[in-house]
Amino acid sequence: MDALTHPATLAFAIDRARPVPLTTQITATLRTAILDGQLEPGARLPSWLDLAAQLGVSRGTVKAAYESLEDEFLVVPSGAAGTRVAQLRASNASAAPAPEPIRIAPPLSEIEHGFFQRPLPFQMGVPAQDAFPAKLWARLRTRAVREDAGAPVGVPDPRGRPELRAQIAANLAITRGIHCHPDQVILTSGYKNGLCLTLLVLQLQGRRAWVEDPGYPIARMALEFAGLDIVPVPVDGEGLDIASGMALAPDAAVAIVTPGQQAPTGVTMSNRRRKELIAWAERHGGWIVEDDYLSELQLGGRAAPALMAGDRSERVIHVGTFGKTLSPALGLGFVVAPLSLAERFGEVAACLNPAPNLTTQLAVADFIADGHFLRHLRQMKALYKARRDGLRDRLAGHDAPESFAGLAMVLRLPKGVDDVALSREAVRHGIAPAPLSVWRHDRSKADPGLLLCVTNLRGNVLDRACDTLERLIAGLAPPDTSLSTLVEA
Ligand SMILES: Cc1ncc(COP(=O)(O)O)c(C=O)c1O
Repeated sequence: MDALTHPATLAFAIDRARPVPLTTQITATLRTAILDGQLEPGARLPSWLDLAAQLGVSRGTVKAAYESLEDEFLVVPSGAAGTRVAQLRASNASAAPAPEPIRIAPPLSEIEHGFFQRPLPFQMGVPAQDAFPAKLWARLRTRAVREDAGAPVGVPDPRGRPELRAQIAANLAITRGIHCHPDQVILTSGYKNGLCLTLLVLQLQGRRAWVEDPGYPIARMALEFAGLDIVPVPVDGEGLDIASGMALAPDAAVAIVTPGQQAPTGVTMSNRRRKELIAWAERHGGWIVEDDYLSELQLGGRAAPALMAGDRSERVIHVGTFGKTLSPALGLGFVVAPLSLAERFGEVAACLNPAPNLTTQLAVADFIADGHFLRHLRQMKALYKARRDGLRDRLAGHDAPESFAGLAMVLRLPKGVDDVALSREAVRHGIAPAPLSVWRHDRSKADPGLLLCVTNLRGNVLDRACDTLERLIAGLAPPDTSLSTLVEA
């Protein structure tokens, strides 16, 4: 028997020893594939000649097989376009049960409203669409592709390109107060990938992890997927409450924190708490993962230094991303490993998590080296501040006090409102506020609310988005609820 594969990946089993004519065998294989849906309506069959050559049979044998499928209305000859699978009608499809429609929910459907779609007003996690330096970026990428194509084809460093790691190390010294060797910097595809690499290095399955409550829901899910036991620790006006963490789980193996600006409350961790946290880690041999998602893109004045900048005990692993400072579409971030773990990070990256797209790395290295990065950040800070003020002014007519967290405004909703359902409804009306309750560990204890990201509120988009939001909120009980009464103090 010679088993061959058809160009459309169909497996043909032609058995010359069987007392069944070859034409019948070919017809049977194709018939099953069509009725099972493996060959879809409209799919083109290979030419007689190609299939005959592939199966080692005569052209006439294949032609006869196609003709008998045509007689069964399973295929239609389409002139120069060859032979195509027919659109099956109930009468000839009756032999095959109608296939169940396949429904696979996209990931994070409570948090994300869709991937690779044009961002809607208020959508979190996306930069200003109108301010991304697209032309400059295209030029740098083209240059990087050319440089890469002409370079010797060697084995890439799994930690990432040395040029970019050196640029990041230099930039961190200026903007985040971190002084590290470029070999402590390991490139990743973003924060989540940095967290993944860190968890692979630390091997903490079955151990307990402090997470901020409220806190980034994806980090919480990530730790659970990685087999850690979550310990939600409250957050107050100074950031993570270390005393509560110690009371709940002094033996935790790791704490995941957003000290720059706590997500989603916007609180910068106080110096006192920073010292307490590092002292806890030192005493108990715990690790601290610093999620520096905003980097220096903090709108309330000069960004506080990174937690790692004040860590002499080597317990902090700093995880950065270009997702907010440049674009999540680049898929680029980095980890700064403490010296004691730098080699291990390199080994694990080499075996399980090598650095992402090399030309993107080269283009970003040039972007930083040529001074574009710091300029871009300065411009984005000014733009986002203006858009934040625009949102505040739009609501100021209602005499509304403000509350901002990162690049978003926090809007509290009356108790009992389902903010997840409201957010879904909002997407149907063309705006994408994010539900606040999903940031709490125990949703039943969460106060509902919405996060309104300001990055894309340009010009008249702001007014239209706020009008739509007001209409949606006015539809909620109690009837006198208005946007102005909800903006948080
Ligand atoms: C708290 C927090 N951490 C990290 C990230 C970024 O993650 P990534 O770089 O994987 O897109 C975000 C993005 O919105 C975030 O809100």
